[in-house]
Amino acid sequence: MRVSFAVDGHRHVLDAVPDRRLIDILREDLDIMGPKQSCGVGRCGACLVIMDDRPINACLVMAARLEGADVTTVAGLGPEADRVRDALAQSGAVQCGYCASGWMTLLTWLLGKSPVPTAAEAETLLSGQLCRCTGYGGIRRALAKLLPSEVR
Ligand code: FES
Ligand code: FES
Repeated sequence: MRVSFAVDGHRHVLDAVPDRRLIDILREDLDIMGPKQSCGVGRCGACLVIMDDRPINACLVMAARLEGADVTTVAGLGPEADRVRDALAQSGAVQCGYCASGWMTLLTWLLGKSPVPTAAEAETLLSGQLCRCTGYGGIRRALAKLLPSEVR
């Protein structure tokens, strides 16, 4: 089947079998390496992207769902992502970095919401993101930096 969709503001038209996964299309067909392949079954968030303004694990999206979609990866987040990157870096929230694309993408999307979620809401929303290295202390410190002081 032929699908036409956008990634980070660039339109792509591809021929793909209907069950080809978005994570494979991004990394293998389009050479977009930000989202990572890890569990492959929707449980870790390493492959998370924003699709039509909703966070979604790219290992669970098949080509058949892509027609007309607007996909944003960590590379297309825009200037707001700089604040998230800095908070993660300054808080020691990243070790091997394999999970960082997913955290960056989801945190930047969350901070763009109005109203910005409370820390408790953010923790719930972030519960699908796994980090195998840090123990989450640094990630929590980054979250505290990013959220408005009155809702910490
Ligand atoms: S690789 Fe997609 S959720 Fe883990
Ligand atoms: S820093 Fe290694 S998985 Fe998160």
